[in-house]
Amino acid sequence: MSYIKSALLDEKGYVILDRYDQAADPQEWNDLEYVDWKSSGVTQFAPLASAFGEIEANGFWNHTPPRTDKDGVWVDSQVAKAPHLAARAKEPGANVGRCRVIELQPNNYANTLYNLHQDDNNRLNPDGSGWIVRGFFNLTDDPESFMTLREDRWDPTTEIRIPLPAGAQIIVDTQRFWHAVWHKGPQARYCLITSWESGPALDAYIAKHHGHNNHVNPPLDQKIMDDAQAEVHRRYAERSAALAAQGRVGRDPADSEA
Ligand SMILES: [Fe+2]
Repeated sequence: MSYIKSALLDEKGYVILDRYDQAADPQEWNDLEYVDWKSSGVTQFAPLASAFGEIEANGFWNHTPPRTDKDGVWVDSQVAKAPHLAARAKEPGANVGRCRVIELQPNNYANTLYNLHQDDNNRLNPDGSGWIVRGFFNLTDDPESFMTLREDRWDPTTEIRIPLPAGAQIIVDTQRFWHAVWHKGPQARYCLITSWESGPALDAYIAKHHGHNNHVNPPLDQKIMDDAQAEVHRRYAERSAALAAQGRVGRDPADSEA
């Protein structure tokens, strides 16, 4: 399969854009309508664009007819409540699939590792079209929380931790990376997540906002990493044993796709 990809995104799988100064914007995420949708933790979602313009968060391939994560339909009632957020999602001019605000309750590092998953944004995406990636615009100020990425789910040395202060803007190939957010709290975190199709429009947007991938991880104590990794292995082993005892093969919890 040959998809159109952004060179900068393809190099390392993520780009970091200039921070957005949202001080003058209303906190529109507080006005939106949320629905329960579990994804990598205790979460709710407020869709701004969905498969058919309804307030629901399901993947487009789970609708009839199934389709890839493109041509999202804006939810009028939500866009009316969050015009700044909708404008930010539309700014690149790239095709938008799902667009929603996620609410994530605080978690810990071990839970983050347990929740690592890959998205499936490019399911049904036709060969030769643009690879679908995701924008993450942090809305709350969570400088001690991290977008946590791993090229190899079980290899801590592949981990990338990008801090999430207010206005942080990151684009991630979430089908390439295992990913989840380590959100330390104490309040819920809100983030605007938009699926965009790669191509010249998205490239121009990345350039306009000085996208780069020169990132150095904030330090994390090796013992914290080792303990969390061991806990995740233990939890997966326990889960597999419990399912085996029931004569069942488990569905990977990471399949709760965001
Ligand atoms: Fe995801």
